[in-house]
Amino acid sequence: MSDEENQWKDRSTPHWHLYQRQNLINAANGQLPPFNTDPTKLEREARAKLSQNGWFYASSNAGQSHTHHANRAAFARHRILPRTLVGTNRRETRTEIFGRSIPAPICFAPIGINEIYHAQAELAVARVAGRLGLPYCLSTAGSRPVESVGEANGEEGVRWFQLYMPHDDELTMSLLKRAWGAGFDVLILTTDTWQLGWRHDDIATGNYAFYHGRGASLGFTDPVFQRRLKEAGIDPETDPKAAAQKWIDTIWHGRSHNWEKVKWVLQQWKTLTNGKPFVIKGIQDARDAEMAVEVGCDGVVVSNHAGRQIDGAVASLDALEGVVAAVGGRTTVLFDSGVRSGSDVFKALALGAKAVLVGRLWVWGLSIQGEVGVEHVMRSLLAEFDLTMELAGCNRIEDIRRDRVRTVEEMDGKQKAKL
Ligand SMILES: Cc1cc2nc3c(=O)[nH]c(=O)nc-3n(C[C@H](O)[C@H](O)[C@H](O)COP(=O)(O)O)c2cc1C
Repeated sequence: MSDEENQWKDRSTPHWHLYQRQNLINAANGQLPPFNTDPTKLEREARAKLSQNGWFYASSNAGQSHTHHANRAAFARHRILPRTLVGTNRRETRTEIFGRSIPAPICFAPIGINEIYHAQAELAVARVAGRLGLPYCLSTAGSRPVESVGEANGEEGVRWFQLYMPHDDELTMSLLKRAWGAGFDVLILTTDTWQLGWRHDDIATGNYAFYHGRGASLGFTDPVFQRRLKEAGIDPETDPKAAAQKWIDTIWHGRSHNWEKVKWVLQQWKTLTNGKPFVIKGIQDARDAEMAVEVGCDGVVVSNHAGRQIDGAVASLDALEGVVAAVGGRTTVLFDSGVRSGSDVFKALALGAKAVLVGRLWVWGLSIQGEVGVEHVMRSLLAEFDLTMELAGCNRIEDIRRDRVRTVEEMDGKQKAKL
């Protein structure tokens, strides 16, 4: 079904699709894959592995999960229209993003406090991203120091730092310098989470690890924050709860920033790094995307934070086309929220995203089996994406254009006749 001998040798990216064959051959020799990557089953298995708090934190959405369901429904409403007999034997999944060549348009979304999912936390995830050559984005709410994560990601790793910006400029600068020093060369400012959304399960169970003294080592290792703790008379050794609480209240402070502040931090980052890319994550409205371009951002992430912030909001996929129409020609548009499969990646690219970020998929893999779990999930996603390109008749990422998908609405009435 997938004869290794048939594979062209000069492909510049790994033959991701062969992961399918490898799994089937291994199974024939008595070794089944680590677990089933069907998203529903994957999620169920992660739930069985996690503590109640771990499960609630990863799975909680804003309110009644309407936005989360809208995210998924939007993918179901868009359907791939395959072409056949194109000749896809020499296809490539490679693309370029922010001046770096990457072997597939799939990135690791920033996810805070990984230590609640696995003892190896961010280090396990960064190692897998480094091995696969995919961009890894570390969250400010990460539970390992920036420097250790950079090292785990490796020399060749493509790494981005996601900033939750405090109202303490000296601390912001310290975080930026540490990230830059550890080889994170794209800054992603998240603007949809000054404050956490209302998540019923987390409230009902008091599920906020930082308030219990966990997960703040990125903050505890920061020299400026160490000074802030001293000034407040808090010793993280003897009172980790108060220290972690201060950290998280500093970065999730509940006080919004504005475009003037964005200009400031963008300028700081550009000066520090001699012009490296600056991106805003959490864009849904094309007018905000326009503003982002106007103030000089190099990219936007069309994201609704996996539906965790506002209940009853539009699906991120439905927001994508408007943003692409407004700024796609002028800036890099990335997408996330709701990606669960290789065909979802394909659909987001067809609607104009340059690449997608995935979050919960790898969180489930991490929860089930640490580094092995993350790698299994991501290799499976890459394989599914690669073979979706093959089966849909696409040789290059640029071939995945708007005419490769139809919405259900487009297929109704007059639109149907066009198919
Ligand atoms: C458990 C969890 C923690 C998250 N933590 C962060 C974070 O620290 N910073 C951030 O910018 N986004 C965070 N996000 C949002 C993700 O970066 C991303 O936007 C989202 O997960 C993508 O949707 P997906 O999980 O459906 O792939 C988090 C999402 C989840 C599910």
